[in-house]
Amino acid sequence: MTQYLHQPQLYQQIAEQYGTPCYIYDENLLRANYQQFAENFADLNCHICFAVKANSNLAVLNILSALGAGADIVSAGELTRAMQANMRPIIFSGVGKNRAELLQAIHNPDIRINIESEAEFAKIVELCEQSPPAHQVKISVRINPDVDAGTHDKISTGRKGDKFGLSMARALAIYQQAKNIDAIQPYGVAVHIGSQILSLDPYRLAFGKINEFIATLTAQDIHLQAVDIGGGLGISYQQQDIIAIKDYAAMVKEFFGDYKIYMEPGRRIVGNMGELLSRVIAIKPIDDDHHIAILDAAMNDLMRPTLYQAWHDIVAVAPRDGKMLYDFVGPICETGDKFAEKRTLNLLQENDLIIIKDCGAYGAVMASAYNSRDIICEVMVRGNDTALVRRRIGIEELLSFEQLADWQK
Ligand code: LLP
Repeated sequence: MTQYLHQPQLYQQIAEQYGTPCYIYDENLLRANYQQFAENFADLNCHICFAVKANSNLAVLNILSALGAGADIVSAGELTRAMQANMRPIIFSGVGKNRAELLQAIHNPDIRINIESEAEFAKIVELCEQSPPAHQVKISVRINPDVDAGTHDKISTGRKGDKFGLSMARALAIYQQAKNIDAIQPYGVAVHIGSQILSLDPYRLAFGKINEFIATLTAQDIHLQAVDIGGGLGISYQQQDIIAIKDYAAMVKEFFGDYKIYMEPGRRIVGNMGELLSRVIAIKPIDDDHHIAILDAAMNDLMRPTLYQAWHDIVAVAPRDGKMLYDFVGPICETGDKFAEKRTLNLLQENDLIIIKDCGAYGAVMASAYNSRDIICEVMVRGNDTALVRRRIGIEELLSFEQLADWQK
């Protein structure tokens, strides 16, 4: 049975007040999701650094920050958001940090840098020489443990050949150099093997390899304080069994109980607290028992189904009698603009409201204005209160960024 996060009247009210399509976030569920991590990891020395890429709305970040969350970021833009929300500490991840980003990172004592290549390490060393930081820069090397996380190809990150991290042999060479540089502190080791992971097995494999690597470092008199275990815990999009955070915490403790733990959960904190509210524009029959429901939401608002063939439950706000097989599509001029195929739902009519579930992670953050459509708004709900937390960005505003070339005037 699909659970509704809110009463039908609340969805109706939101649709009227803020317009559709729009993202709706549930503050209480967001808090509860975070607390699950905090409670299960309470007896470990640990920092929960929310992966800002999953949902970077300032209201969301502020709620998490007030609960004690740090941030995992991958760009100067995300850094600005994390700092505005006062999130600390900050892990700077990502394979392609540019010079300006690294310069900012070395001068911020709240930042721990996860290094992903020799080239990046060399840049950090050079920047530390040119512009010495007032503190020792805390670095970790992200290890690529060559483990298959058993998730979608496009979100697997820990296999040899994926662009992420370094082999242990190459990482070791970086630690050996770092050890002899005063401005840099070999602080930790990092691993993140992918996203939407539903089994502890790949974690166990990866963590075992990290432990071996730590032993290698210790034997070379390189003593780390911290382990960054990444993120990746999956959610139940389609009634799947998911990893219990309690079991995950127990495993982390078993492997790394003696270290300061950093973790970077994204989806598991925000995924199920977000929904995409949309209206049916038209119903178009394919067969007697199979219709297309054309929604006002489209692939530009929620990329996941098109990009990863991802499943999102779809439910009607006010179900009518009778059943039908529906394909759910958007108005964009591409066949790939499809949220779901052959779903059995109660009968739908034009103007009905539907909810696309579990869109709080990698939903709004991946939206674009393709087809010159709006960047849709985001609404926070707390109990019966609603608040706009990002306004709709329409064509006038989008056009205001553009101008003709000089020679066209
Ligand atoms: N840490 C690092 C270094 C990451 O690359 C990611 C996600 C996370 C943490 C957070 O992972 P999570 O706990 O959210 O699984 N757009 C895709 C997901 C991309 C994930 C990218 N990295 C999707 O919609 O499924």
